[in-house]
Amino acid sequence: MTDDITALIAQREPDRYALHSRHLNEQMVRVLRAIGYDVGFSRGQGQYLYDRQEVRYLDLLSGFGVFALGRNHPAIRDALKLVLDSDLPNLVQMDVSVLAGILAERLLERVPFLDKVFFANSGAEAVEAAIKFARAATGRPGIVYCDHAFHGLSYGALSLNGDDTFRSGFEPLLPDCQRIPFNDLFALEKALHSRKIAAFIVEPIQGKGVNLPADEYLRSAAELCRRYGSLFIADEIQTGLGRTGRFLAIEHWNVEPDMVLLAKALSGGHVPVGAVLTRKRIFERVFNRMDRAVVHGSTFAKNDLAMAAGIATLDVIESERLIENAARAGERLMRAFSKMTSRYELLHDVRGKGLMIGIEFGPPQSFKLKASWNLLETANKGLFCQLITIPLFKDHKLLAQVAGHGSHTIKLLPPLVVSDVDCEWIEKAFDDVIAASHRVPGAVWSLGKTLVEHAMRVRA
Ligand SMILES: Cc1ncc(COP(=O)(O)O)c(C=O)c1O
Repeated sequence: MTDDITALIAQREPDRYALHSRHLNEQMVRVLRAIGYDVGFSRGQGQYLYDRQEVRYLDLLSGFGVFALGRNHPAIRDALKLVLDSDLPNLVQMDVSVLAGILAERLLERVPFLDKVFFANSGAEAVEAAIKFARAATGRPGIVYCDHAFHGLSYGALSLNGDDTFRSGFEPLLPDCQRIPFNDLFALEKALHSRKIAAFIVEPIQGKGVNLPADEYLRSAAELCRRYGSLFIADEIQTGLGRTGRFLAIEHWNVEPDMVLLAKALSGGHVPVGAVLTRKRIFERVFNRMDRAVVHGSTFAKNDLAMAAGIATLDVIESERLIENAARAGERLMRAFSKMTSRYELLHDVRGKGLMIGIEFGPPQSFKLKASWNLLETANKGLFCQLITIPLFKDHKLLAQVAGHGSHTIKLLPPLVVSDVDCEWIEKAFDDVIAASHRVPGAVWSLGKTLVEHAMRVRA
């Protein structure tokens, strides 16, 4: 008899961190312990997480953007249960599934300038497919990507990663990939000019750092790509499906890319999924003959659970008006944080769209804060944000993330279902912790001292 999973979880819960230290990633457990995040989350509902003591947390991380609908949405659960109870043949491979057809049709209704969909199992897999499709469609080898870009961590995707911390130790990566600064059209044109570039791939809003494009950047980049015969790929794996207050983030700038990549939120969080939306002419260069019908694919792609979850997700986004809520709640939060920038010298910038918001800290003006800031920065660049996220977590029960290695920006990526009460929670908590960070000496800077000492001990 198979184990009763619920009983098994209850029985082994006390071993959770020990199991991971022993059999999985021990460093992750060390990180969680060091920053006091080892509270043992036991339950998730909507935008909330509950630890082993049933303390409620507001999740501003959404599993890296997966839980746009919140955790365990009943509509997604019902769709998945119905599939499991339907005895569907699933993954026959020598057949095609109606659910995949429906999800493709519904996605293309939302993105009418594209004609075809390729399904994958993750964001990185969608990126890998896009690289192959671009090369096959253009007969060119090169891919241009941006500084600070994040497109996943498999080899092709890693070759387009704009942060050396991720790349280091894994080289050599894919050849013919060229990095340019984000928001630099001159650099883009210079790269495209060789006419050896298959595609330019870009996140409309960069996840690492929450960097926004200049007003004309994406439009002009798409035009340049067209002029030089390169494809324009929008990686909307994080920004897509309503996150920024539009179905796709590129809609803010009226751009029609040759490929749009989706994943994360598309399955409502229960089943891995990825998708490449593209033009017919590109698709036809890849799958160009009957003997190439399976020239690219993946065994589990288009599985019934992922496809049903995708269909249910699109329904919920529509019926709960989540895109509108993302726009409205995002505007409210941006307004509140913008007001704070005038009150706090360490708070330098607030930027974003919808519910993808970056809160950037930077060097203070006043003498009393300067000394503490410099000490911390010298010891470990970017550590300041931990002085904000740790008290947010410990004292205010907000789970938030720093927007990248060595970054001074905290990223808010909450489920799109957040309410006004949640927004108030966020605003009050940040206000309180940021205010405390302006008091020297104070609890926040004592934490800084502890973290520096800890970092030095680890390095020693
Ligand atoms: C913009 C973007 N592209 C691609 C990926 C990779 O997705 P996955 O982790 O599902 O491979 C991510 C993941 O964070 C992402 O944010």
